[in-house]
Amino acid sequence: MPHVLIVDDEPNTRAALSEITKAEGFTVATAADLREARIQIVRQAPDVVLTDLRLPDGSGMDLFDDLDAKLAVEVILITGHASVESAVDALRLGAADYLVKPINVQRLKAILDRVPRSTDLKAEIGSLRGELRRFGRFGQMLGNSPAMQDLYDQISKVAPTEATVLLIGESGTGKELAAQTVHELSLRRKQPFLPVNCGAISPNLIESEMFGHERGSFTGADRQHKGYFERASGGTLFLDEITEMPIELQVKLLRVLETGLFMRVGTNREIEADVRIIAATNRDPEGAVADGKLRADLYHRLNVFPLELPPLRNRGKDVELIALSLLDQLNASAKTTKTFPPEVLANLSAHHWPGNVRELKNYVQRAFIMADDGPISTSAVPLQISPTKPAQGAAISIPVGTSLADADRQLIFATLEQCSGVKKHAADILGISLKTLYNRLEEYSANGTREAMETERS
Ligand SMILES: Nc1ncnc2c1ncn2[C@@H]1O[C@H](COP(=O)(O)OP(=O)(O)OP(=O)(O)O)[C@@H](O)[C@H]1O
Ligand SMILES: [Mg+2]
Repeated sequence: MPHVLIVDDEPNTRAALSEITKAEGFTVATAADLREARIQIVRQAPDVVLTDLRLPDGSGMDLFDDLDAKLAVEVILITGHASVESAVDALRLGAADYLVKPINVQRLKAILDRVPRSTDLKAEIGSLRGELRRFGRFGQMLGNSPAMQDLYDQISKVAPTEATVLLIGESGTGKELAAQTVHELSLRRKQPFLPVNCGAISPNLIESEMFGHERGSFTGADRQHKGYFERASGGTLFLDEITEMPIELQVKLLRVLETGLFMRVGTNREIEADVRIIAATNRDPEGAVADGKLRADLYHRLNVFPLELPPLRNRGKDVELIALSLLDQLNASAKTTKTFPPEVLANLSAHHWPGNVRELKNYVQRAFIMADDGPISTSAVPLQISPTKPAQGAAISIPVGTSLADADRQLIFATLEQCSGVKKHAADILGISLKTLYNRLEEYSANGTREAMETERS
């Protein structure tokens, strides 16, 4: 039977943790401080150590020195709210996972369940790192600039854990791709990865979309409906544009993160949530808290493991690497031999890339389509004017007889194109809120306007 050592100065916490771990099939020893913990480690070597970070006689992290590295003991750290630095440090030092107080019992069970299964994953992450050296990519993520290597390091540490991750970065920097990578490198990877754009769901429906509803719980609820939490069960729920989630719902989300339980709309039966949450925002989260768009308590709960996606302009040679590798892919599928001559690559490196990798990807696709086989000339495919100068924007002509709705649609797409897909810029230029823009795009795609999705997504 695997053996767990629980270290916490709070007798109640020790008792609660003992009960849960015993129920999961572990034998248990407890200690109230480092001194007692060291005695227990000598008495019986644990397979897992669950330790509070702050102990009367030091830090739980000091125990790493007492554990035999060869025995591969899994250390799970328990931290208070505002200790982002220590949680990140703990994973760097080799903690297998960590929990934030108040302890979410579901999460603790998921971690204990994972303990014996995590070796394969670690091997796989090791082999991805080998590929990074050889091919300049980490899974699907292209680039090996120092900024990206730093990011891959952090992804490698956090992916195999159950930790909630907050992705922060400008539009088009690859937040969704990073979220997918974290999912792929976790034990949840055989289960769904479900992306949800919090800004694109109507505020009236968002609660029932998230948590589901029972038949008859509100007008129009004519049958039972499973929400994202149930549909992503066992897997990862990617909450994109978290600052666009209505404040009332942020309260409910916080409760789920703390208790691991949620309720369908129209019931009071609690269901166990078995999802890992990855949230993303392209705004500065502290600014969003100051503006009242993001609740401070939710932010702290999400921000235990922040990952920042660097803007493309700070990734040096990655611009060329990504351009060339995307061009290779296009050449391979079309059986062509188009190339970027050095002057084009120099131009790409000098560009500011407000739309980041998405803009670069669009550029390479456009260049590929426009150019004949062989070297691609700069003049044939100019880079777009920076969206910070909207006055010089391209004109669109809308014939009399066009409906207002259709004119709106054309203007929205033209503006998005001009802004290289950066929705925030496009919304600013159009003088509408980001949420309105999302709602429109959602409507267009729901109406079967394929190109809506194409322009928006590609
Ligand atoms: N490092 C990368 N390597 C290869 N492709 C990338 C990389 N980063 C992003 N991409 C591609 O660029 C596009 C935009 O990425 P993604 O959707 O992940 O960005 P985002 O940060 O979520 O943007 P937004 O804030 O607008 O939602 C996608 O097609 C993605 O596959
Ligand atoms: Mg995104």
